[in-house]
Amino acid sequence: MITACFNGKFVEPNELVVPIDERGHQFGDGVYEVIRIYDGKPFMIDEHLDRLYQSADAIKLRIDPDRGAFKNTMLELIQKSGLTNLDLYVQVTRGIAPRNHLFPDCPVSVSMTAKSFRSIPVGKKDSGASVILHPDERWAKCYIKSLNLLPNILAKQAAYEKGYLEAILVRDGIVTEGASSNVYIVKNSSIITTPISNHILSGITRMAVKNMAEYLEIPFIEDQFTPDEMFQADEIFITSTTLEITPITRVDDKQINNGKPGSVTKALQERFRQII
Ligand code: PDD
Repeated sequence: MITACFNGKFVEPNELVVPIDERGHQFGDGVYEVIRIYDGKPFMIDEHLDRLYQSADAIKLRIDPDRGAFKNTMLELIQKSGLTNLDLYVQVTRGIAPRNHLFPDCPVSVSMTAKSFRSIPVGKKDSGASVILHPDERWAKCYIKSLNLLPNILAKQAAYEKGYLEAILVRDGIVTEGASSNVYIVKNSSIITTPISNHILSGITRMAVKNMAEYLEIPFIEDQFTPDEMFQADEIFITSTTLEITPITRVDDKQINNGKPGSVTKALQERFRQII
């Protein structure tokens, strides 16, 4: 089954061998996207493409300026995979060149892989998940969807070792986002989420939540909040392409409100189901 593509060549995943000098491997010198496809229809693919190009620009990486051609390769891989519900991973790196920190004079590398959904543990989306608080140890340009994910990985692993789903990152006493998700609290029926800045990734699912909140006439407030405000919240939820909208009912060892997903989170989940 064809589920991968490297620099325009469609291959089976076990044929996909990335050269040792590939800068994604040597330096993490690249950017990426994850796009979910529901029933053969990519969800917000243009928004993901916009973000990919913005991330690339931010690290002075020149992707094929023909966005249409780039998108067509993505669509071709989706089609060739024969899968209808899948995640498409796209990585663009500064190419293949002998290891040297300076930018090489070579074409960028593009790899794409198609994978069936890896769903979050059964029940979490209905009954709620637990998260830990963790120091945000990342760099100052978190708006770039960079391949360098070491601090995210360490935080996520710390959550996993406690049996929890996600690590919520805290920088200078302020909640920024999850290790691989955006985070929201609900207070007095308003949704509050960290404003867009260089300290968070501007999530595509976050964009969808903002639109859904408007449709549902739920106030959507972009404001900073603290861990204490999280503990006092009526509801908490996190979002990402792969976690979709997941209620959070426990933070560290504290139960949130009555320990059950709240009505605002459920309304958003329901609206999301309609949209996809
Ligand atoms: N992660 N913040 C971070 C740090 C992320 O890694 C992600 C997504 C998000 C949510 O973005 P979106 O809604 O566009 O998926 C926020 C992806 C899913 C991943 O790395 O697997």
